[in-house]
Amino acid sequence: MLYKEMTRAELLAEKEKYSHEYNLFKVKKLNLDMSRGKPSEGQIKETLGILNAMNPSTDYVTPSGINTLNYGCPDGLPECKELFSQILGVPAEKLYIGGNSSLALMFDYLMQCYAKGSSETSKPWIMQGEVYFLCPAPGYDRHFAIAEYLGIKMIPVKMTKDGPDMDQVEELVKNPAVKGMFCVPKYSNPTGVTYSDETVRRLASMKTADDFRIIWDNAYCIHDLFGREDKLLDMLSECEEAGNPSRAVEFASTSKISLSGAGVAVIAANEENLTYIKKRCARQTIGYDKANQYRHVLYYKDLAGVKKHMSILSDIISPRFEVVLNAFRAELSGLGIAEWSEPNGGYFINLNVMPGIATRVFGLCKEAGVKLTNVGATFPYGKDPDDTNIRIAPTFPSVEELSDATSLLIISIKLAALEKLLK
Ligand SMILES: Cc1ncc(COP(=O)(O)O)c(C=O)c1O
Repeated sequence: MLYKEMTRAELLAEKEKYSHEYNLFKVKKLNLDMSRGKPSEGQIKETLGILNAMNPSTDYVTPSGINTLNYGCPDGLPECKELFSQILGVPAEKLYIGGNSSLALMFDYLMQCYAKGSSETSKPWIMQGEVYFLCPAPGYDRHFAIAEYLGIKMIPVKMTKDGPDMDQVEELVKNPAVKGMFCVPKYSNPTGVTYSDETVRRLASMKTADDFRIIWDNAYCIHDLFGREDKLLDMLSECEEAGNPSRAVEFASTSKISLSGAGVAVIAANEENLTYIKKRCARQTIGYDKANQYRHVLYYKDLAGVKKHMSILSDIISPRFEVVLNAFRAELSGLGIAEWSEPNGGYFINLNVMPGIATRVFGLCKEAGVKLTNVGATFPYGKDPDDTNIRIAPTFPSVEELSDATSLLIISIKLAALEKLLK
């Protein structure tokens, strides 16, 4: 029964029941974290073999003749480009391989656009007065943190089941002070949405300022769950076809394929952007960790090897998602106080509770020992205007821990909703 259709007496009875259940949880003194999208120990253990994939006495020179332990080959091993080319479906000549973090590559790229312009001929963003970025929200807090750090003003854009609300985006980009947009196009963090073909094509073809850039953060490009797979169009070719070949710069990494602290990150871009990026990178480094790049090549070999490994990881992650989703379905359906995503991949479940209670839910969980992602973190400037969104990160805790944490979360949602309705 919908909570809002209950009589006051019914609501009070429910509140008493869940207050009691909540107090039973408090006694358990849980200490659980559902806040950050980190791989679990099990995932790390399944991947440890990568550290021994390169035999130091025989393997450190690659078939293309590159000594992985010396300086040189600053834009990445050809063998590693070939591997990423298969993963991303982008030709190897469009790739630049970096260190372990795609976020670092994004930061440096945005800093370059800010200080030097987004191309050889365009004016630095910092010299153009107030500039703006579109931020599909809920979105990835660390994107928002980069924009905030650089002083780029953020404009939230509503997320739909097909990606960002394109009517809103097309209207906003008419302003030439809008310089770019963050996109997590597949199994988006946190909504789990994969952008539809129409969304990708509208992003590629809409009219924008010439120096507008899309940060195409394909962090979950191959991170399927439950044996299901969403399909995403290749943004670089769509931009080319639409006559805007330099519009998008794509980023990805193996942080959630191999090891989050010891993966390999990549940029994919057209020739103009790639040349411009490489020119800056040549001032930054004489070369990233090629031994790690080569370990990835030796360990996975090709796309089939990566897919096999991802299916092992999916067997670890999927049951964790299932625990949370099953509990939500069983305990929250039909009450009118929460809606959640059921993604086919990625690292997150997106939960929207009754407007105005997310902060209270967060507080109740915290008091009883379960840490959730800070409410508001999924919105620019940390402000969720409706106090409704909670990002659930189910990968790190064990299935048992998740089961406890989800039960507490559900009780907290019910209590907070009842408190609000009784006010
Ligand atoms: C959308 C998105 N982009 C980037 C990252 C970070 O990637 P990396 O470890 O390659 O810096 C994350 C990590 O959670 C993410 O969710």
